[in-house]
Amino acid sequence: MRPYIVANWKMHGLRQDLPQIEAIDAAAAKYNDIDVAIAVPATLIQPASQIVTHISIGAQDCHHAPKGAHTGCLSSAMLSEAGANFSIVGHSERRADQGETNIIVAGKIMAAQNDNMSAILCVGEDLATRQSGNALSYVSDQLMASLNAGNGKKPKVDGLTIAYEPIWAIGTGHVPEIADIEAMHDSLRAQLIAIFGEPAQTIRILYGGSVNGDNAKSILAVKNVNGALVGGASLTASSFCPIIEST
Ligand code: PGA
Repeated sequence: MRPYIVANWKMHGLRQDLPQIEAIDAAAAKYNDIDVAIAVPATLIQPASQIVTHISIGAQDCHHAPKGAHTGCLSSAMLSEAGANFSIVGHSERRADQGETNIIVAGKIMAAQNDNMSAILCVGEDLATRQSGNALSYVSDQLMASLNAGNGKKPKVDGLTIAYEPIWAIGTGHVPEIADIEAMHDSLRAQLIAIFGEPAQTIRILYGGSVNGDNAKSILAVKNVNGALVGGASLTASSFCPIIEST
């Protein structure tokens, strides 16, 4: 499976930062067997997508409805038209800050896929859930509900990536034990196969949460870790490229 290394720029990035994207694109061009992508702020989708030749440019969220009275929101058709090839959906920061529920997130995946974008679905437990020993079952329930897997229409396997991001590891410098990452990713793979059948072997499962140039190699070597979703260390070419090189 081709490794997938995705930058999540969150609410960082102005036009003056486009040279970082050019530099990441140039570095990624040296690796034909790795997929590299950057989820930029919506305002940079168009200019970024015009300067890259090797990497994909995507959005960090899309609305679940195709259009309507949703002041300040962007539909998947708008993002796709601007040049986004994919959208992150259900990031824990949006689940917390914007109150996004699993059912809303499920709608976002369908919306993205409807408008020719793939979706990177984020799941992950908070610290209390991890400490209580219930992380595997919590994330399993979250995955099931965010895919709307129990209720008829499921997303397409083709345009779907999963990102396991323990909330307590995001931006904190704390990374789970390798054995815990492996257990979670194995569990997610088994569940995806239960939902989608054998084609789910092709769904990439990314790890995210304090990935950097120092720890990427050991994390990316874990079975069923098919790439990384990177926040803080993705903002400059000099911190992000070592992660690409670690695959
Ligand atoms: P981080 O963020 O790499 O800064 O921990 C990851 C993410 O939130 O996607």
